[in-house]
Amino acid sequence: MTTLAAVDSLAAVDSPALPESTRPAAIQNFALPAWVYNHAELTRLEIERVLLPTWQIVCHVNSIPNAGDYATLDIGPESVMVLRDRDGSIRAFHNVCRHRGARLLDGAGNCPSTITCPYHGWTYRHDGHLIGTPVKESFANLNRADYGLKPVRVDQALGFVFVCLSGDPPPVSKVWEGLAEELLPYQFSKMVPLGPITTDIWEVDWKIAMDNYLESYHVPIGHPGLYRMFTPDYEDQASLPGIARGISWMREQESSRWSERLYQRLVGKVATHLPEPLRRSWRFYSMLPNLGIDVFPDQIDFFQLLPYGPGRCMVRGAVFGLPDSRPEMRAVRYLGARINTQVNNEDKWLCSRVQRGLASSSYRPGPLSRLEHWMLEFHNLLRSRIPEFRLETAPQRFGGASLG
Ligand code: FES
Ligand SMILES: [Fe+2]
Repeated sequence: MTTLAAVDSLAAVDSPALPESTRPAAIQNFALPAWVYNHAELTRLEIERVLLPTWQIVCHVNSIPNAGDYATLDIGPESVMVLRDRDGSIRAFHNVCRHRGARLLDGAGNCPSTITCPYHGWTYRHDGHLIGTPVKESFANLNRADYGLKPVRVDQALGFVFVCLSGDPPPVSKVWEGLAEELLPYQFSKMVPLGPITTDIWEVDWKIAMDNYLESYHVPIGHPGLYRMFTPDYEDQASLPGIARGISWMREQESSRWSERLYQRLVGKVATHLPEPLRRSWRFYSMLPNLGIDVFPDQIDFFQLLPYGPGRCMVRGAVFGLPDSRPEMRAVRYLGARINTQVNNEDKWLCSRVQRGLASSSYRPGPLSRLEHWMLEFHNLLRSRIPEFRLETAPQRFGGASLG
């Protein structure tokens, strides 16, 4: 039944009665050529020209509340640590020992007083200064002041900590500024992690996963559960430079599934910190090139798509909420997480089917719906940073064919 309703809604897309966002585009745009979704040299260039010069989320400020708490982020060959100093400030450094380059920290944790390299024991203060070098007399004229950890640009927005490894983009706080007011009631910066940062490997190029997040055209067919509970966000879209926002509204009609129905009934009663309309909305924010922030009445999450070789990516993410131990909030969060796990599994499955389909010699880029216009913005960003995105096949100097 849901499928039929979904098909009907898609068939009606050309109707003049539908909102602006669903009407046919004046110019027909097309998907990117298949080769760009599985090519080692292109992946290297994407890291260098698209991901390192943009703001990358590392964690929430309350993921590292105490002095010495840290979280790390790996992007291609680079690794960064963000760390809470004793004075309460948050610092970011390359996660690389200044002696012979060993990786210093992994994952997330706490360095109570200093950061000590696991190889020969060089020791750094939380502010990055080198303060300990075992057998110091074995070095000729070693001036410790010359070998502090290399700092990385760090900024905060919405309670999240971001780093930028190269280039000079405007502060990330500026990028999100225009959305600060509508997000204020959620109190992001008071939120705490509801679990650790998780990572998952998808056999999918990171751009396929981002394409998927940037369009809701697939929701009625690809996410039947979500569609039972919420309207697709076709009619409530907005974008700031670099950020897209879609809002789905909870349907009046209750879902036929118990867990979905229970969520629909409970969430409005539990999320009492929010004004009424916000209790009925699921909001999706995406910051180009590779970040999604999902905002639900009961919790929020981020996910970040990182290349993990051509045709593979790491999906890194975490869930946050206001401190709240009421059993009814726990129940709503459990139900919300259950629905989102299902949606996530559906996306992973759908994206992997695209990855496999693109490997076929028969595929040529298909036309894009107006409902996929944010994908187009993403692709335009990619084209502007790497002109080879405009080519139908990989250039010779890239080393020939993509990996199957
Ligand atoms: S590589 Fe870190 S102390 Fe030697
Ligand atoms: Fe999806």
